[in-house]
Amino acid sequence: MSSKVSRRQFLSYTLMGVGGFMASAMLMPMVRFAVDPVLQPKGEGEFIPTPQKADDLTETPVRVDFTIKDRKDAWYKSDVSNTAWVYKEGDTIIALSPVCKHLGCTVNWEGDEKHKNEFFCPCHNGRYEKNGKNIPGTPPLGPLDEFMVEVVDGYVNLGKTVPNTLV
Ligand code: FES
Repeated sequence: MSSKVSRRQFLSYTLMGVGGFMASAMLMPMVRFAVDPVLQPKGEGEFIPTPQKADDLTETPVRVDFTIKDRKDAWYKSDVSNTAWVYKEGDTIIALSPVCKHLGCTVNWEGDEKHKNEFFCPCHNGRYEKNGKNIPGTPPLGPLDEFMVEVVDGYVNLGKTVPNTLV
């Protein structure tokens, strides 16, 4: 059996090699671009500064608005506004998500004349206790989420939301 390579086979192998190299050189950037968001670090432990001074907090929840700068959504970066209800319980700072656990409306502290000292969701009269516990017999099926909290230079910084640990 001869192991000689004919001129035709040599040219064919060479063209396939060069063609394959060129194809991979063109495809690699496209593949890299397509999967780029997946490769980015998620920044899960990230805390966002807020304008709220920790010393100014009382036992009455106050609305704290903050902005997440350059939030990356796939290929797009934008600033995202967010809100928390923040108060003190002893020395502990508690920050609750305002997102209703029924259908996602925004809950307000004492948002209804009849329900003092509660969070109230105007969409379907959802009610929550101060610690975020949903009041049985109202539409929400679970407690409000909590934000992770830390204090930096006297200001409240908020992290990701976690399931409520107070109820
Ligand atoms: S969305 Fe809040 S009670 Fe329905």
